[in-house]
Amino acid sequence: MRGLIAVAGFFFIIALIPHAAAFDPLDPNGNITIKWDVMSWTPDGYVAVVTMNNFQMYRHIMTPGWTLGWTWAKKEVIWSMVGAQTTEQGDCSKFKGNIPHCCKKNPTIVDLLPGVPYNQQFTNCCKGGVLASWGQDPQSSVSAFQISVGQAGTSNKTVKLPKNFTLLGPGPGYTCGPAKIVPPTKFFTPDLRRKTQALMTWNVTCTYSQFLARKHPNCCVSLSSFYNETITSCPSCACGCENKHKCIKSDSKLLSVVGINTPRKDNAPLIQCTHHMCPVRVHWHVKLNYKDYWRVKLSVTNFNYRINYTQWTLVVQHPNLNNVTQVFSFDYKPLVPYQSINDTGMFYGMKFFNDLLMEAGPSGNVQSEVLLQKDKNTFTFKQGWAFPRKVYFNGDECMLPPPDTYPYLPSFAHHSSVAVSTLLISLLLLLIVLV
Ligand SMILES: *[C@@H]1O[C@H](CO)[C@@H](O)[C@H](O)[C@H]1NC(C)=O
Ligand SMILES: *[C@@H]1O[C@H](CO)[C@@H](O)[C@H](O)[C@H]1NC(C)=O
Ligand SMILES: *[C@@H]1O[C@H](CO)[C@@H](O)[C@H](O)[C@H]1NC(C)=O
Ligand SMILES: *[C@@H]1O[C@H](CO)[C@@H](O)[C@H](O)[C@H]1NC(C)=O
Ligand SMILES: *[C@@H]1O[C@H](CO)[C@@H](O)[C@H](O)[C@H]1NC(C)=O
Ligand SMILES: *[C@@H]1O[C@H](CO)[C@@H](O)[C@H](O)[C@H]1NC(C)=O
Ligand SMILES: *[C@@H]1O[C@H](CO)[C@@H](O)[C@H](O)[C@H]1NC(C)=O
Ligand SMILES: *[C@@H]1O[C@H](CO)[C@@H](O)[C@H](O)[C@H]1NC(C)=O
Repeated sequence: MRGLIAVAGFFFIIALIPHAAAFDPLDPNGNITIKWDVMSWTPDGYVAVVTMNNFQMYRHIMTPGWTLGWTWAKKEVIWSMVGAQTTEQGDCSKFKGNIPHCCKKNPTIVDLLPGVPYNQQFTNCCKGGVLASWGQDPQSSVSAFQISVGQAGTSNKTVKLPKNFTLLGPGPGYTCGPAKIVPPTKFFTPDLRRKTQALMTWNVTCTYSQFLARKHPNCCVSLSSFYNETITSCPSCACGCENKHKCIKSDSKLLSVVGINTPRKDNAPLIQCTHHMCPVRVHWHVKLNYKDYWRVKLSVTNFNYRINYTQWTLVVQHPNLNNVTQVFSFDYKPLVPYQSINDTGMFYGMKFFNDLLMEAGPSGNVQSEVLLQKDKNTFTFKQGWAFPRKVYFNGDECMLPPPDTYPYLPSFAHHSSVAVSTLLISLLLLLIVLV
């Protein structure tokens, strides 16, 4: 019981942390950095390369991709862009001859789609705004474009930094800090024999908070084991039951209607009716117990008929992850945010095999098994130890069932301790009676 209270307390404390600020205890340094390198001054402004780096270990930006915004400090306009575009031109009626690409005070920028003509491309552009996580694919975690700014300062003394940066990835959740002047970026020529540098560089850092992103969790966890036939299902309404009246039964005839899976412009989900109403469920099954090892089966199920999850990630915290011996059919990477604790890792799909979690339905799940070596000092099936402490899907924390509903090990120790305490109480009563 004390163990259970400790576990509950632990969950309670941990649950408070991410709500306090945009801080993820499993990825304390995770952020998206937007860097502006001024490459040249022009008669009325400058040309800059804007680079977005996703330094988050396991949170990527899925299709329909990122949307970046800011507010100009003065009367700046965007003459032209390469590798991205603004969604609106705004009012450029003051201009004669050359018309700017965008005259809005607060431009909104989106990436171009793959396959745009060569002359509109820029290094690391044109991925439809999709940005991989740093942990999964660092090479694809960069996005960049070039921007030519007019009616701006033309020296590092007169240029004014844009303000109020906003980032959608693709939904809300990110908060961006102010732009800060940093040491100019150094560039190497392709032969590495010469170094050049930006005329001026500023950085903006954006961090994610699940609390800002959504009111309810986006996924839940269910549990089972070989040693108890109870399946602990996801908590009811774990993801809020707001869509309950719009959900669709798994045997509904509507599912055969053409176009039912087509994503909506506003990304409204179409969720299968379940008691938890979560778009995603993660199931952790303690499958086998060997002398020196134990085996867990992990499955992730998609309940949204309108999303294919590309490059999905699953993060798990469990004290035995320091001894992962083998992971079958998922890729695995330990995450060690605090050098001393090795209890967290990320699972993700193997490229071209199961890195796509398909829409709800017969193919809407991915599975794996994990073989863990027991550490004799800590290993136990008692008190829910074999179950994960935290689970994240695509960087959002999943709701776990309450610890007192976990499948219990039918334990003799448990019974004997009850027997001992009963005996003690009877002895005490006997003493009182005697005295
Ligand atoms: C952003 O992330 C990088 C990489 O993890 C880290 O070095 C940097 O300190 C972070 N920046 C902030 C402001 O947290
Ligand atoms: C600015 O951002 C770049 C990545 O875009 C990063 O490498 C660099 O360390 C950042 N500089 C500072 C001072 O945070
Ligand atoms: C501006 O440029 C001058 C020299 O051209 C340099 O000394 C100064 O540090 C620069 N200031 C900033 C903010 O980059
Ligand atoms: C930036 O945003 C804040 C809060 O949303 C607002 O009060 C402020 O006026 C904005 N600044 C500019 C220059 O738009
Ligand atoms: C998911 O991918 C499959 C195969 O590529 C495709 O047929 C289906 O339309 C996609 N579903 C959604 C919701 O995008
Ligand atoms: C963490 O544990 C994994 C095995 O799950 C091991 O491969 C890795 O080396 C460990 N890392 C550290 C820093 O202890
Ligand atoms: C893994 O378990 C073995 C056996 O208990 C133990 O000797 C070893 O130290 C563990 N490895 C780590 C990285 O904790
Ligand atoms: C299995 O676990 C459930 C839920 O914790 C518990 O109520 C039940 O007593 C356990 N069954 C056995 C045989 O111990």
